[in-house]
This record gives sequence, C-alpha cells and structure tokens, in this order.
Amino acid sequence: MTAEHILREVQASISEDLRVMDEILGTVGSEIAGVLGQEGGELVAATGKRLRSTLMLLCAGMGQSRNGVAPTAAAMAELVHLATLIHDDSIDDSTLRRGRPTAHVTWNHKVATMLGDMLYSRAFELLTELGDMRLLRVMAHATHVMAQGELEEFLLRGTLPLEDTYLRVVHAKTAAFFGACCRTGAILGGVPIAHQHSLARFGESLGTAFQVVDDILDYTAEEEQIGKGMGTDLRDGIMTLPLIAALSRAGKDRHSLLAMVKGVEEDASLVEGIVASVVRHGGIEYARGVALRLCDEARALLAWLPPSSSSHFLDLLAQYVVQRER
Ligand code: IPE
Ligand code: IPE
Ligand code: MG
Ligand code: MG
Repeated sequence: MTAEHILREVQASISEDLRVMDEILGTVGSEIAGVLGQEGGELVAATGKRLRSTLMLLCAGMGQSRNGVAPTAAAMAELVHLATLIHDDSIDDSTLRRGRPTAHVTWNHKVATMLGDMLYSRAFELLTELGDMRLLRVMAHATHVMAQGELEEFLLRGTLPLEDTYLRVVHAKTAAFFGACCRTGAILGGVPIAHQHSLARFGESLGTAFQVVDDILDYTAEEEQIGKGMGTDLRDGIMTLPLIAALSRAGKDRHSLLAMVKGVEEDASLVEGIVASVVRHGGIEYARGVALRLCDEARALLAWLPPSSSSHFLDLLAQYVVQRER
C-alpha cells in the first residue's frame, strides 16, 4: 500500500468528523474572505494533509465518550497549524505552500503577520466554546512551546547545532503540538488519565519523526510533490539532521561541504552540490534511521493501550508518517 493509500484509508475511518470539521473551517474561511476577499477564503479552504486533526479525532475515538464536539477541537488544531504556517513562511521567506503562493506573497509580510494572529485567536475562540479548562491549558502550553521553538530555530540560523539541540528544537516547534493534539483528543474521548499520557507521548515521538522526515524531504523531494519549496532550510541557514549527520561523517570533505553551506545564501546554485554531498556521506540514511526509530517508539507506546479500530488506525498513521513523500 502506498503512503497516500494509507492516509486515505485512515481518514476514511473518521470521514464524518472530518466533514464537520471542514464545515467549521469553511465558516472561518468565509469570515476571512469577508475581510481579505476571495483569496483569503481560499487560503483557509486549501487544507493540507490534516494530520494533526486526524490524530486528535482518532485519539478521541480511543475513549468511550461521544459528545460530538471533537470536530470543533479538530478545526481549532488546523487553524492553529495554519496560523503557524503563515508566520513560518513569512519568517522563512518561502513562496510556495500547499501548491499555492504563500500569504506574504499574495499580500505582504505585514498582512501575513496580522492574518496569522487572527487565525490563532480565532482558533482559541473555538476552543473556549468547548468550555473545558483542561483543553485550554494543554493548547496554551503547546502553542507557547511552539512559538519558543520557532524563535530558538531562528536564533540558531547560520550555526551548526549538535544533534541533541536539533532534536530539542524539533520537539518544541513541532512535536509538542502533535502531543497536545493527541492529548486533547484523549481528554475529549474520556480516555483514562494514564492512557492520555501515553497518547500524548505517542504524539510527541511521532511529531519528532514527522519533522525529521520533513527535513529529509527538504533535501530530496520535488516542489510539485510537497507543494512547497525544497532546499529552503539550507538557503535560510537552518542546518537540519541530514546535514548535521553528513558533516560528522564527511571526513576530509567536511571543509568543502561547510564552505558550500556557508556560501549557499548568496549562491543558490550550490544547493545541488550540498544535497549530493549529504547523500554521499549518508546524512539522509542516518536521518531516516532516526525517524524510523522514533516511529517504532511511538508504535510501541500504542501497543500498550487497549486494541480498538482507533488504535489500529493510529498505528497505520504512524507508518504513514515515515513513508510519506509529501
Ligand atoms: C508542515 O506541516 C509544517 C511542519 C511542521 C513541517 P504539514 O506537512 O503537516 O503541512 P500541511 O498541513 O500538510 O500543509
Ligand atoms: C515549521 O518547520 C514548523 C512549524 C511549527 C511551523 P519548517 O519550516 O520545516 O516547515 P516547512 O518546511 O516550512 O513546512
Ligand atoms: Mg518553513
Ligand atoms: Mg521544512
């Protein structure tokens, strides 16, 4: 089964919840269109892979409670995620997202800043509708950690981090939110506390694996495939695991690889040579190994929980995360 098949099968199992979530997102899209015109509405309507919401809905399915509010929380997760993408693209100067021009290209950086803020607050407004302080606490903390992770990554630009530092930043900017989405779902589903913790840890391991794969794809994927630019991390001076690993294995080539990395901001044509060198020195292979290990760790946590159709689909989703090509 291809990665795309897996995702489709997993999402088919929660299609009704996803449909209701999309309806809520459609309403928010219309609100945005009222302010920014049609392009604003389309930006919200153009969903991505919907991974965080899918995780949340499946984790909700791990419990017995069926109160029908999970799609509202799922919409919240997608809006927070979209807000961070708009801000991230503005910071990274990325021009392509989900196969379309980014917000700061369509409007400008100032509008992108304000639109991101607006979506962030709209997301939290949705969450307050659920009237559950536990959810607000989980999400407020995760978004705080995520913002701090983005800032830390920004401050590390142009430097070569240790693998530990890289993983710590990845945990903050991506994995904490994955974990929070799983925990939110588990709370909504009425999952017992001990299992809520396991699901949150499952989300964190999976989120870390997901970001490592994203960083691999920044080296190996075609733009049409991922719907966003490739080589952007390098051009932005962000040194991720494939490069960190390749440099520590490059031996006598280390200096020439570092020189190319230093020059790439001025001369984008160096990207090709860097990618070839990273592949040659096993950087991609190493990073893939790390992602696979994290994915196994996540699946092992899941295996302790009572088996159900939701846990089966969570397990499939974990496999998707390391097989995906977009
Ligand atoms: C992109 O996330 C941002 C990262 C944390 C790497 P996704 O790859 O889940 O983006 P969409 O929602 O599918 O567009
Ligand atoms: C962004 O990481 C992570 C966020 C939490 C927004 P990236 O900068 O690697 O994401 P992409 O590659 O632009 O999607
Ligand atoms: Mg980015
Ligand atoms: Mg990336």
